[in-house]
Amino acid sequence: MNIVVSGIRPTGNLHLGNYFGALKSFIRMQEENQCFFFIADYHSLTTHPTPADLHGNVKNVLVEFLACGLDPEKATLYVQSDLPETAELYLLLNMNAYVGELERCTSFKEKIRQQPQNVNAGLLTYPTLMAADIIIHRAHKVPVGKDQEQHLEMTRTFANRFNRLYNIEYFPEPVAYTFEENLVKIPGLDGSLKMSKSENENSAIFLADPPEVIRKKVMRAVTDAGPTEPNQPKPQAIENLFSLMKVLSDAETYDHFNALYNSCQIRYGDMKKQLAEDVVRFTEPFREKILELSSNEEYLRKVVEMGAEKARISAQKTIREVREIIGFKSF
Ligand code: ADP
Ligand code: TRP
Repeated sequence: MNIVVSGIRPTGNLHLGNYFGALKSFIRMQEENQCFFFIADYHSLTTHPTPADLHGNVKNVLVEFLACGLDPEKATLYVQSDLPETAELYLLLNMNAYVGELERCTSFKEKIRQQPQNVNAGLLTYPTLMAADIIIHRAHKVPVGKDQEQHLEMTRTFANRFNRLYNIEYFPEPVAYTFEENLVKIPGLDGSLKMSKSENENSAIFLADPPEVIRKKVMRAVTDAGPTEPNQPKPQAIENLFSLMKVLSDAETYDHFNALYNSCQIRYGDMKKQLAEDVVRFTEPFREKILELSSNEEYLRKVVEMGAEKARISAQKTIREVREIIGFKSF
């Protein structure tokens, strides 16, 4: 059975893009693999959150994961900082990670640009911490988006370097895990190609948004004056509304508005009203579950304790073996 590891930075609420682009496949993966999903709270310290924000964001992600259907009995769901073995492996990997290769990493260069006042060593060594997350469970597969490919490449470099250095085939080479079906990319309400909270919060519909907020957001979505000739290609913002409808409404609804568009009779107000109701219908069960879970501290504690316990079994074994390979010996 494949070992799958993935981490999610606790940076805010989940939106429809996160759900269709990542979570839905995690939920399928948990059925067929030994999955470790964790909340990357050590990583989030590279941007200096306040203590209250740190805990609140971790809780949000946990609650929303569970509300979406990640099952703590099937997958191992844990908080990164509950697994200090990761920090030890990170330290050990840093001894064989070169400053030059870390400095060349695209995400590091990008961060220097974004936060020139806070270029900390954690940013530089972000890839070794991520590698530690992955190889601590000797993972085979890592479900990540395109933006993480370089980090995964570096993980392979560090794993191979360790194997070579100690002349042992210990760590497998982890590869990106893309699920069979093509991942759906959810576009933004602002006409952008991708719904994203980090690029434009207004482009996103969050799973926890109340119905009135969803209606407002959808009604404000970017449109234009409408087509002037039949069967014209759709401008991006209009294409976006249709893409959302394709994912969230039923096929007849989509066909109905598509036909109206093609015969230049479309009224975007009507289309948005329909789309808003379909989004509300889709997100409502998630929202209810999120509210219910948020107030169930007892259950959340049980989930993270159980996750840490399961993750520790695998992590402690790796650390024990790695220490032995490196040459640490007890007297
Ligand atoms: P954001 O762009 O909102 O900051 P993140 O970078 O935190 O989102 O993304 C977390 C996960 O959700 C990643 O695996 C990413 O590929 C996926 N994801 C984010 N936005 C979308 C989207 N609009 N469509 C599909 N997948 C997405
Ligand atoms: N760097 C990842 C991101 O920004 C989060 C992450 C941390 C991760 N550790 C990981 C993803 C290990 C996969 C495996 O999205």
